[in-house]
Amino acid sequence: MSPCTDSHIVLVGMMGAGKSSVGRALARRLDRMLLDSDEMIEAREGRSVREIWMDDGEPVFRELEAAVLTDAIASPTPSIVAAAGGVVLSEANRTVLKSDGAYVVWLLADVDLLLERVRNGMHRPLLDDDPEGTLRAMYAERADLYQDVADAIVSVDHRSINDVAGAVLRCAG
Ligand code: S3P
Repeated sequence: MSPCTDSHIVLVGMMGAGKSSVGRALARRLDRMLLDSDEMIEAREGRSVREIWMDDGEPVFRELEAAVLTDAIASPTPSIVAAAGGVVLSEANRTVLKSDGAYVVWLLADVDLLLERVRNGMHRPLLDDDPEGTLRAMYAERADLYQDVADAIVSVDHRSINDVAGAVLRCAG
């Protein structure tokens, strides 16, 4: 069975790895829906990620992140899922990611590239202070976790969004 036709393709990776952009390209190419974790949370709550984070704190945000991941993977139509960067921190989420219905691709990026990309965007309160130190520490903490859930790893360095999408499809096909 081809994961392309039967499973959700789930993109995981650090902030700035391009999960949403590559997800949009994949959704177009496969004519699938894109389920973007942060967008799902914002639509559900009627508030921005930053507002949720500031008003209610990280634990509440992480609960919402887990809920939308479970809903996305449970949806019957194979979709493209752009999971939020922190989704691998929870063991329960990692179990969901390892389930049969999800083909998980880790978009692997050099921290220098991530740093360039995260300069824009308001939905990353974790990076408000010392983005470089935070990203490097996060990468050290999370790399093994991304690896643990990944069915495939695709490097995004020196590649366009379309090239990365093509590489994901070659893995998943
Ligand atoms: C986070 C990643 C962000 C957003 C929040 C926390 C993380 O999403 O969910 O700021 O902990 O890595 P992206 O991965 O889409 O940037």
